[in-house]
Amino acid sequence: MDERYAIILAAGKGTRMKSKLYKVLHPVCGKPMVEHIMNRVEEVNPKDVITVVGHGADEVKAQLGTRSEYALQAEQLGTGHAVMQAADFLKEKKGTTLVISGDTPLLTSETLDQLFEYHQAKGASATILTAQADDPNGYGRILRDHVGIVDKIVEQKDATPEEARVKEINTGTYCFDNELLFETLEKLTTDNAQGEYYLTDIIEILKENEQIVAAYQTDDFEESIGVNDRMALAQANEIMRKRINQQHMRNGVSFIDPKTTYIDEGVKIGAETLIEPGVALKGKTTIGENCAITQNSQITDSVIEDQVTVKSSTIEKSVVHSQADVGPYAHLRPQAEVNQKVHIGNFVEIKNAVIGEKTKVGHLTYVGDATLGKEINVGCGTVFVNYDGKNKHHTTVGDYSFIGSGVNLVGPVNIASNSCLAAGSTITDDVYENDMAIARARQVNKEGYAKRLPFLQ
Ligand code: UD1
Ligand code: CA
Repeated sequence: MDERYAIILAAGKGTRMKSKLYKVLHPVCGKPMVEHIMNRVEEVNPKDVITVVGHGADEVKAQLGTRSEYALQAEQLGTGHAVMQAADFLKEKKGTTLVISGDTPLLTSETLDQLFEYHQAKGASATILTAQADDPNGYGRILRDHVGIVDKIVEQKDATPEEARVKEINTGTYCFDNELLFETLEKLTTDNAQGEYYLTDIIEILKENEQIVAAYQTDDFEESIGVNDRMALAQANEIMRKRINQQHMRNGVSFIDPKTTYIDEGVKIGAETLIEPGVALKGKTTIGENCAITQNSQITDSVIEDQVTVKSSTIEKSVVHSQADVGPYAHLRPQAEVNQKVHIGNFVEIKNAVIGEKTKVGHLTYVGDATLGKEINVGCGTVFVNYDGKNKHHTTVGDYSFIGSGVNLVGPVNIASNSCLAAGSTITDDVYENDMAIARARQVNKEGYAKRLPFLQ
């Protein structure tokens, strides 16, 4: 097999996106488009990967890091000009170079592999990856001669009405003989409707030089969608979402309505888990087996172990251990660790806190900056008062303790195990093992006083 190289074109601004975010950084199912491309490119094992950057160069470099070398295209003079910028890295190397756009995030590595293989089998100098489009609008068209051999690619803006009717489109992905690619690039001109150095013109030049040009047509147009605007971005998301969800279903995950279930690429879900509509699973999230994630839950960068129920809740950067249940309408903020068989009920917020095994935090409670032991009962409306306006303070509660309803625990404070905090208490001092703390004003009953209240007359 020839040595493989890859050039990713990612210098364009993406004017049609009308966005401050550079086009190739727009996410599709949670990852920037250019990262999807990078992942696919790595799967076909190129020796070198050169990403051509320009608009948003620093941001694109920060995204891909050391996975690529970078060639700067200071001025965006067209796709041909962009490829020329990689000359310093690749020019005299022998092998096959894949050129791919940063805005075609749905291409699969299987298709890229097939493109390389077809290119080699045909002994071609260039092979274009093409597809049949129902609506070829916006793409370059593949023009073939009367026996079906590729003549050239014509851009939409340069096409005659007849050429524009052609439905075979250029996906913007190619394999080239590397040395010939850089030699031929020097012959490009800007004599076209957009006054740019079109990479696509290289096909005609190669043909004029008696080189073999091939076209490998994928049968899946959807794979080759180029994202130039937000309509195509939404479409790309929809297609990738469908792919991701189908893969989970193949692995034994149930969906009520996969169309309205939003799972980022890379999320892992165990078998027999049920995912209800409106659920979003984002970033680096793992869900175990036999879980139920009900309507509109949002889980980001979190680990949910087996047999957990999450009801309509939001979970960020947290861990929920097996057989726990969360919600409805709970919010686990970063660094919440909910241990086995814990019950987190409705309208409970937990932040930077560990909740020990079998502890129950049932209703309307805030637990921030705290360590709770096992089998504790936290009453309704309890607040861990962790912030004095300047600093955050930590509170601990030992195993088997009982916190009555409406208790404020003013941190820092330590509540030992087997202790009890009476309802309505504002706890500011440590409580020791087996003690009960009560910290509230005594009740006074004023006999007959209600009768004197004007609003009760
Ligand atoms: C290009 C092709 C078109 C093809 C389509 C497939 C050309 C002339 N046209 O059109 O035939 O059907 O892709 O999606 O190649 N870029 C740079 N520097 C530049 C210009 C572009 O790096 O100076 C990058 C962009 O960031 C983008 C890629 O190249 O990732 C393609 O550029 P774009 O402007 O989107 O080309 P299309 O008009 O879609
Ligand atoms: Ca494009």
